[in-house]
Amino acid sequence: MAEEKVPPKHDHATLEFPQGFLWGAATSAHQVEGNNTKNDWWDWEQGREKEFRSGEACDQYRRYEEDFDLAKELNHNSHRLSLEWSRIEPEEGKFDLDEIEHYVKVLKYLKSLNFTVMLTLHHFTNPQWLAKKGGWENSKSAWYFERFVKTIVPKLKDYVDMWITINEPQILVWGSYIEGCWPPQKKSTLATIKATWNLVQAHKKAYKAIHKIIPEAKVGIAQNVQSYTAYHKHSIVEQVGVIVSDFMANHIFYTLSHGYHDFLGLNYYLHHRLKSKGLKPELVDVTAFSKDVSDLGWEIFPEGIFDVLTDLSDGIPIYITECGIATTNDDRRIRFLMQYLQEVYRAIQAGVKVKGFFYWSLLDNFEWAEGFDPKFGLVEVDLQTKKRVVKPSAKVYADIVAHNGIRHELMKFLGHRIHVADVLEEKT
Ligand code: BGC
Repeated sequence: MAEEKVPPKHDHATLEFPQGFLWGAATSAHQVEGNNTKNDWWDWEQGREKEFRSGEACDQYRRYEEDFDLAKELNHNSHRLSLEWSRIEPEEGKFDLDEIEHYVKVLKYLKSLNFTVMLTLHHFTNPQWLAKKGGWENSKSAWYFERFVKTIVPKLKDYVDMWITINEPQILVWGSYIEGCWPPQKKSTLATIKATWNLVQAHKKAYKAIHKIIPEAKVGIAQNVQSYTAYHKHSIVEQVGVIVSDFMANHIFYTLSHGYHDFLGLNYYLHHRLKSKGLKPELVDVTAFSKDVSDLGWEIFPEGIFDVLTDLSDGIPIYITECGIATTNDDRRIRFLMQYLQEVYRAIQAGVKVKGFFYWSLLDNFEWAEGFDPKFGLVEVDLQTKKRVVKPSAKVYADIVAHNGIRHELMKFLGHRIHVADVLEEKT
């Protein structure tokens, strides 16, 4: 009698991601380049304490080769970065050829290292001349952006694989016109509506312009997506709150710009719980009941990335264009990476077309109004010397990339039973 094959009791296989999966990290110009003196943020920062000014940031403007070499050594196969519009068009309608040449060199260098390049054209900052004209409230703002796009894309097109027109348009509107904590620090419903409308138009115009220049281009946005849960399953008020919040935060921009996305770019950081107070659902302060929050007070909630991925999935490719944790405890970053990536894996198994993951961020950098305190990087940057130091989490991520997935040995780390360096193939 043939011996019956007994299936193994435990599955020790690697959680393998699809072939060709993009693994990389993301940055934005103002957060890493340094000396972006011609944009609205720079202006605004001058009125703040020194530690809240971007200054030289990570000096990536001059050290980009070192940074990309590092990303390469860490096995990344793709990279997301952004242009600084105010360098390229420092005065209205006047384009700086030297700065264009600089970005050609930057992108060429990435390509020489074989990276798949995702380029963001607008990441929060505006040229000062545009800010003076009312920024995104100005009805011509979409046209100004289109002119910039039409000028720059032909120059860079040979070195870019994917284009992000605008990073987190809704967070830009929230910070600038709803919460009023970012320049121009307004709190105005009218400005909110105008800016949202103009950003939608700007994306659509840019989408069309890029496709005219490169018919087969892949163009999208990076949308900040947030996961919501009702505090009590049975509460109708809370459930309605979840639906409305989900629509407002995650779907409105995509709905208004429907048909103008070749892929969905999702930046995931936030999970909220809604609790009813009478007939009004309110956000629960997670820091009060959950110890598992980042240094910015954001709840660690890996299931949330599964939630947003399945919620937004509509057949076109999805890239996680940002996901990361602000922490000075790098062990937490390692756990974060593995927990969140397991959820991404689970979403892929459930049929969501996730094609890539960009950790935020390659470097500890300038975290906008929060200054340099929050540490999101895989690589530490000494603010004085600018020396780069690779963190253990970067090596864990490198191991994940090398195996195109999470090895079982690495997962044991989640149970705190091992020191991560013991299972990395190349010991730290
Ligand atoms: C932005 C990044 C930022 C990150 C962490 C995203 O909203 O695109 O620029 O640093 O979140 O706050």
